[in-house]
Amino acid sequence: MRVLVCTCKGAIKLPKLDLGPGVKIEQHEDLCKKKLAVGADEKVVIAGCSPSLMECLFPNVNAEFVNLHEHVVLMGHSMDKAKDLIRAAVAKMEAVTPIKPKVFPIEQKSALVIGAGVAGIEVATQLAQNGTDVHLIERTPFLGGVVAQLDRLYPEGTPYSHTLMPQIAKMLEQKNITCYFNTEAKEIKGHIGNYNVALTTRSRGVIDCSNCSKCVDVCPVEVDDAGKKRKAIYYVPTYPDTYAIDWDTCTKCGECVKVCPGTIELECSSTEKEIASGAVVVATGLNWYDVSKVEEYGYARLPGVMRTIEFERAVASGALEPKNVVFLYCAGSRDSKHLPYCSKICCFLGLKEAKLLVDRYPDAHAYVVAMDMRSYGTFEYLYNTLREKGVSFIKGKASEVFRRDGDLVVRTEDLYTNELLEIEADTVVLCSGFVADAPTFEKLGIKLNGDFPVLFENAGLGNTDLPRGVFTAGSATFPAGVRETLIDARKASFSVLNLFRQDKIESKQPNALINEDLCSVCRMCIGTCPYNAISVVEEKIKVNEELCMGCGVCSITCPTYASQLEMFNPQALSNQIAALVKKGDILALLCRWSAYNATDKAAYDKHVYPENVKIIRIPCSGAVDPSHVMDALEKGAKSVLIGGCYPNACHYAKGNFRAKAREQLLKMNLDVLGFDKNTVRLEWIGKDEALKFVKIVKEMNK
Ligand code: FES
Repeated sequence: MRVLVCTCKGAIKLPKLDLGPGVKIEQHEDLCKKKLAVGADEKVVIAGCSPSLMECLFPNVNAEFVNLHEHVVLMGHSMDKAKDLIRAAVAKMEAVTPIKPKVFPIEQKSALVIGAGVAGIEVATQLAQNGTDVHLIERTPFLGGVVAQLDRLYPEGTPYSHTLMPQIAKMLEQKNITCYFNTEAKEIKGHIGNYNVALTTRSRGVIDCSNCSKCVDVCPVEVDDAGKKRKAIYYVPTYPDTYAIDWDTCTKCGECVKVCPGTIELECSSTEKEIASGAVVVATGLNWYDVSKVEEYGYARLPGVMRTIEFERAVASGALEPKNVVFLYCAGSRDSKHLPYCSKICCFLGLKEAKLLVDRYPDAHAYVVAMDMRSYGTFEYLYNTLREKGVSFIKGKASEVFRRDGDLVVRTEDLYTNELLEIEADTVVLCSGFVADAPTFEKLGIKLNGDFPVLFENAGLGNTDLPRGVFTAGSATFPAGVRETLIDARKASFSVLNLFRQDKIESKQPNALINEDLCSVCRMCIGTCPYNAISVVEEKIKVNEELCMGCGVCSITCPTYASQLEMFNPQALSNQIAALVKKGDILALLCRWSAYNATDKAAYDKHVYPENVKIIRIPCSGAVDPSHVMDALEKGAKSVLIGGCYPNACHYAKGNFRAKAREQLLKMNLDVLGFDKNTVRLEWIGKDEALKFVKIVKEMNK
């Protein structure tokens, strides 16, 4: 085995170190600048800067990375600690199985794009222009998504059609795009390069339409379509240029058929079709949070309380002429009872609606009640314009909306004047946040613990959270404005084209391997795999390497240790702990996606922690077995910290919940064995929470 040590221009002065027979140490001045050849099957230890950098410089090698720069040099710790960390890495590597490269043929070179809003249309066009066949599916009868519902787009203030219609025209020029309307992907099976997708299409209900609109005139069903009134048979001026029946509201009264016999079919029929694709792009756009759950604001209970899109459509269609409007920001956002996160675009949506109001009704008055204003980039211009136009900005969080003498009343604090206000209004607009399109992600095997899939970008490894061959565009993974959506859509198309350039791709992502000699087919691993990658085939446990994402949770669950993750297994972790931990140490087993990164930040921010804190990077907090904690305590560790992602942010869906369940079991066992159960802590530590990490380890060191 080779141990490559970076001396970081003399900052690392490694004393003599004997790592046993067959282990060769090479010291280099600037490892990050050297192009060192490492054999595909070779096992190496690479000691230098943080693995988040070294992994990018040495992709596809079977390496354990030792973080000498951030964990020793920047902490001011001694070279003895450096030696311990290297020795432990060597001990781990002796017990791991190197990663076997996997080859996935790219059999299908057509793409499935789910969602035909601006993101989906852009992806389809870019792909088709570059010679790729595209299946574009849209669950409604028309193209355009949310943008087609809007009046204007900001910061330019242009009608939505100025952006959308040229985009649609460009798409329709492409002969290799097949659009499926009223269509959903019922089931998505397969893997990168070869997906099989079952589509279900509901009929449109209107055939050979001449667009005379007589059907609309006679339809008795009035529908409130996000603030705009329409009928159950309707038209959206995008594409296709024909009417459609809204099957969810149509009563089948037959009035439309009487004025237009032969073109309207009132029975909704469904057709099924299977298509093959090599890649899937999820472009499902914005999904509003159900703001009626914020009961104190009265949405769906108090007339006059509406969402931003409803306000925009009602004002633009002339159905609403408001005089006093209160815009309530963060309605349900940044609130642990609803959406704990900021949805990023709601601030400028609120500004946009306020601008629409003052432009159309200069005598109307707008109040904006906001805890903070996040009008990033060019949207700051909107904010300043509205202040100049006399819009009242109140800093605070509204506590309640209610009715008094026919008016709506917003009760709020004003943090600038320290007063409690009651603002009377005829209209209250809730600027609420957004959630992901959970059903689509679930069909792709992507579980959402929070409200959006947790995606991590790594410059060297790419996006490692999505199943291979699945890409996202626009607001599918987080709310975005139109401009950002278009940029993101082009990025997604580039990724698909890049994939289709190849006839096969090679992956060195670690997979779980089953040692059949040890496996008793107890099936415990099947239930624990977050990706449904494990099944029984001919009475044997098999791992589908296309689906396995390498979390290691099955390895820890397996009672006979038959399931082992390449480059990580329980024995290897035990070896590493045994070689690293000394009496009085604090062992920190930290998830590579969250808590471990906080330790890098601690080094950059000069938040120093004691030298006896010994850190091991693990794939997920769910990959730690209680026996590892016992190993450390028996070696004399003062305490053990397991640091994982926050509950909604585990990279592997539920690994941290499993860690939580094991923690309870472990504490019971520690009690029985006579250890203080408080010597073990499981903590959620975000990747930026350097101070939190340092505070915890200092407490544990007392
Ligand atoms: Fe961080 Fe699971 S990936 S705890």
